[in-house]
Amino acid sequence: MNIRTEKDEKAACDLLVVGMFENEPNAHTKMLDTELNNEFSNAVKRKEFTGETGQLKMISTLGKLPSHKVLLVGLGKKDDYKLETLRRASSAAIKVATASSAKKVITTLHIPNTDHATEEQRITTIVEGSLLGSYQFNQYRTQDKEKEKKVDELIIATKLNAEKVIKKAEIIAHSALHVRDIVNVPANIANPAWLADEAVKLKKHGVKVTVYGKEELKKMHFNALLAVAQGSANEPKFVIMEHGKKSKDTPTYAFVGKGITFDSGGLDIKPAKGMEDMKMDKAGAATVLALMEAVSKLNMPLHIVCAFPTCENMPSGTAYRPGDVIVGHNKKTIEMMNTDAEGRMVLSDALSYVEKEFAPKVMIDLATLTGACIVALGYWATGIFTKDDKLAEELVVAGNETSERVWRLPLWDDYKDNLKSDIADVRSIGRGYDSGAIEGAMFLSNFVDKVSWAHLDIAGTAWSNDGKHYFTKGGTGVGVRLLIRWLEGKMK
Ligand code: BES
Ligand code: ZN
Ligand code: ZN
Repeated sequence: MNIRTEKDEKAACDLLVVGMFENEPNAHTKMLDTELNNEFSNAVKRKEFTGETGQLKMISTLGKLPSHKVLLVGLGKKDDYKLETLRRASSAAIKVATASSAKKVITTLHIPNTDHATEEQRITTIVEGSLLGSYQFNQYRTQDKEKEKKVDELIIATKLNAEKVIKKAEIIAHSALHVRDIVNVPANIANPAWLADEAVKLKKHGVKVTVYGKEELKKMHFNALLAVAQGSANEPKFVIMEHGKKSKDTPTYAFVGKGITFDSGGLDIKPAKGMEDMKMDKAGAATVLALMEAVSKLNMPLHIVCAFPTCENMPSGTAYRPGDVIVGHNKKTIEMMNTDAEGRMVLSDALSYVEKEFAPKVMIDLATLTGACIVALGYWATGIFTKDDKLAEELVVAGNETSERVWRLPLWDDYKDNLKSDIADVRSIGRGYDSGAIEGAMFLSNFVDKVSWAHLDIAGTAWSNDGKHYFTKGGTGVGVRLLIRWLEGKMK
């Protein structure tokens, strides 16, 4: 979809999108009345359209306007309006446009004045909502005609010269969609070597990419990653991507993602129901990979390191077993008590390595780590765990601004006792059914030394079961917009 601006909304197109707050006609709706014989007011009188959130009403122009049709989109109560309203409305509009085979669409949804946002922010939001909302995962369909329906051109009616704003929003949104693609590719194709190759492709944007295989990982003491991987026929990889250089003015920001290409649970095997969704357990890795893509395409003046350990968690005669003791990368011994708690194992090596090797100013990991985080927060918030109050606040703010919201859960030392092992330095899981998400984070904290660190548990947010708003069923791509926004705060 090509996105550009045009000064005149009354240009020829297949669909003109017009937004309205609840019971508040505006200049655009008045224009419809003048040009279309009160067609708009009549729809209001017939109670077919009031402007309620999510309401959609198609009007035919019968050749009286240069546009074939008009789509009215309800924006809800004026006082409740946020950029997220516009993001969702843009997504709803593009979905209707696509379904009705429109090729050229003009949008006027960015009505100013109540949201305290700038015109640039509103245009960014329209681009985000439209691209995220028009996503389809069709790589494996060979006979579906629906997939050929696609809006070719989205025109944002504005007097502003917005090329740069659009370009930037496109880069970020495309990276979020890249996360979705990676997450959605099934595990028979997306194995650790495939995921590493996907990272190697970033070299064309100037990213330095290093891939370590099994033999190197043995020398590097990645014993926890090797332990999880030993049940699978696919060899593990550890991938490091680097953008920019460290200097006095550009400290290092490091991101680490969980890259389990399939989580069967291992010997502590998962129930059959829903196991197919566990191709999504590589979402953390996909996010740091696509974050690196966006950072390099935007050429951000920062030193960024993105890394991910990747392997497959499978049961077999060579699989690791509950009760095994494993010496982690930082030499701490781990009593591994449930093979399904594999994410914390592979991350422990990676976090310890990245801190030692790069001494970052801040290190953030993203992982679909625990079902317990979904129990705690559901599907609308990523769990954040950190001892750094300022970092927590910054990420919460970035989350609110992008609507990729994060909610803080505690990481108090009082929880540490839950992970006391009878025979080793640390147990990999707790003993009860309480505080599972915190225990996961607490376990990871054993492998972080002095760096300011935050763990983001995206188990609930990385995957959508129902495809609401600008999501489709499958990977959501959350994390990229959040972290780009956070990094922008580091450029000031
Ligand atoms: N990948 C899962 C967590 C998960 C569950 C993500 C559902 C997304 C949706 C993780 O590896 C896991 O299995 N965690 C266990 C930990 C437990 C054994 C301590 C869990 O959450 O049950
Ligand atoms: Zn698991
Ligand atoms: Zn997992």
